[in-house]
Amino acid sequence: MSAEKIVILTGAGISAESGLGTFRDEDGLWAQHRIEDVATPEGFAANPQLVHDFYNARRAQSVAATPNAAHQALARLEAAHPGEVLVVTQNVDGLHEAAGSKAVMHMHGALSGALCAACENRWPAPMVMAPSDPCPVCAKPTTRPDIVWFGEMPYDMDQIWDHLRAADLFVAIGTSGNVYPAAAFVQDAARYGAHTVELNLEASATISDFAEARFGKASEVVPAWVAEVLGT
Ligand code: NAD
Ligand code: APR
Repeated sequence: MSAEKIVILTGAGISAESGLGTFRDEDGLWAQHRIEDVATPEGFAANPQLVHDFYNARRAQSVAATPNAAHQALARLEAAHPGEVLVVTQNVDGLHEAAGSKAVMHMHGALSGALCAACENRWPAPMVMAPSDPCPVCAKPTTRPDIVWFGEMPYDMDQIWDHLRAADLFVAIGTSGNVYPAAAFVQDAARYGAHTVELNLEASATISDFAEARFGKASEVVPAWVAEVLGT
């Protein structure tokens, strides 16, 4: 493999074996919480404390979690091919960076970030955020987690599409293929000539768009796939 550009889309499934719940699996986060209440701007306006409680709990869980063999394998892949591997993650947990990945785009934001809804200043989130927290720049009590909610524009989309267009290989790992625009990346990449691979516990909603698929736990399937790509 020389100068092959690889774009890897990850979802909640890659962090499941690190103890972080997925969204749509049985007992997933969306079985326990209403999306409208905790993951929309309208929900935040209606009850900011409830939304902060939700993300404060997820932040505490994420900080306590450690990367698993799947995150580590992706970091090895990048280390072997610097500049040729990009991870685009829908996850907000930070486990790719904890495993050593450097080229990571957080299209749905990150629990480690705070954002002022009034002046758009960003700063590192404290472990516990509260509706009364003032923005360090404009001093308004309008701080929110730096998370992309339903109805908002995901981050870095133009750059991500540029990378998808240039990709030789597109791999989706642990994502159910229900949330757009991420769910359409496989079609975008394929249209521009990338080979496409799904690595997931079970078939996603977009399985028919992939050229190839391997099913199993991320901690097993991802290291095996990386070993194949590296020829080790
Ligand atoms: P939606 O119909 O609620 O909203 C779509 C929004 O996403 C639009 O307002 C638009 O600004 C933006 N968008 C859609 N396609 C786009 C594109 N091609 N380029 C730029 N922006 C685009 O859609 P939805 O599927 O319900 O979710 C919207 C987004 O919200 C998701 O893509 C996801 O990033 C995000 N989200 C985040 C969380 C979270 O908790 N982290 C939860 C749910 C959704
Ligand atoms: N190994 C591999 N895949 C797994 C594992 C595992 N151990 N456990 C679960 N999965 C798979 C499931 O089969 C499913 O296809 O991971 C996927 C998880 O899907 P979702 O819970 O829908 O998570 P995701 O696709 O990341 O959700 C996308 O939705 O609510 C939003 O913004 C949130 O970023 C999130 C977006």
